[in-house]
Amino acid sequence: MIDLSVNFNGVTFPNPFLVGSGPTTGNPQKIISAIRAGWGGVVVKTIGDSIVRKAVRPMYGAFRKNKELIAFENLELITEDPLDVWDKYMRIIKSEIGKSSPIIVSIMGGPDYSEWVKLARWAEDRGADMLELNFGCPHGEPERKTGAFIGQHADLVYKYTKEVVSSVGIPVIVKLTPNVTEISEIAKEAENAGAKGVTAINTVNGIIGVDIERAQPLPDVNGYSGYGGISGPAIKPIGLAAVSKIYSSTSLQISGVGGIFDWKDAVEYIMMGSTTVQSVTYTMIKGFEFISEWKKELELFMERKGYKAIEDMVGLAAKKIRPYEFLEKVTKRRTNVDEEMNIVRGEIYG
Ligand SMILES: Cc1cc2nc3c(=O)[nH]c(=O)nc-3n(C[C@H](O)[C@H](O)[C@H](O)COP(=O)(O)O)c2cc1C
Repeated sequence: MIDLSVNFNGVTFPNPFLVGSGPTTGNPQKIISAIRAGWGGVVVKTIGDSIVRKAVRPMYGAFRKNKELIAFENLELITEDPLDVWDKYMRIIKSEIGKSSPIIVSIMGGPDYSEWVKLARWAEDRGADMLELNFGCPHGEPERKTGAFIGQHADLVYKYTKEVVSSVGIPVIVKLTPNVTEISEIAKEAENAGAKGVTAINTVNGIIGVDIERAQPLPDVNGYSGYGGISGPAIKPIGLAAVSKIYSSTSLQISGVGGIFDWKDAVEYIMMGSTTVQSVTYTMIKGFEFISEWKKELELFMERKGYKAIEDMVGLAAKKIRPYEFLEKVTKRRTNVDEEMNIVRGEIYG
């Protein structure tokens, strides 16, 4: 009998698939639809107070090759709804979902850490089962010394995390930005400060493209543009490496996110060290209903491979990552470059 449930930082989720923080968890209707469709849980769109404002428009862009989505850019900020609206939202969410599915509430304060503490207590009082501290948003917020600005400074990650952890009773996880030199060192600081787990990764800073006829960077914000957050398939390799590094160098439990577009992507994240996985961009394109198919496929895979629980797969592939020097010793110099390129041209994985 296959068991898809997971214990993530002391909280039980019916399955490892979470809708990550973003537009598809931005109001009670969406969150309730996700849970009813069979998702294991949700991370609520990041809630804030002093930094809440309207995002620029347009705020999305897509990079496609042969109609396939390679990468997605957003200039979206945290929620545009003020705290009193979320007060009502949380009441609806808790009364509709009750205790059946855990709710992770993502928060972001301003540069003053006391606002993070205030928001953390606010969320706990309203029934959050876990907190996710958004130290990862790469646009808009860093200019205000929050979001990825915190995630890029190990000392700030330690300080803000410690303040929040000592102020609430529920587990705290930290969402990390990949835009750092060594993500595992930042994760270590979160662990030292008492975080139970981390979410990796938030979006990767980038620009989705340029309209060369008009020399216009995209998305076109009234003739200008900015550096946005890149998500979707292009960032999966970055996310897998981040999760593997954190898994190998800390005892934190990990929620893996970045480019999960099918159930196999999710298994890859689990095998690199994730206990739960999150999807955002794909839910924006496809909605929530596909999750029953993903769960069915995952169960069939686990049955075929003899895995009884998600925990049996966590980190299996990460354990096979080795330093270059080790790879030099075990390498068999059988293939040449031309042969390798044939493999690369034919399919993604050699
Ligand atoms: C439009 C959009 C809005 C997002 N808003 C948030 C947010 O409010 N808080 C947050 O922590 N991450 C936010 N993210 C980042 C996602 O949670 C996720 O880390 C990232 O998109 C990578 O996952 P994906 O490739 O499945 O989208 C957002 C992503 C997108 C695409």
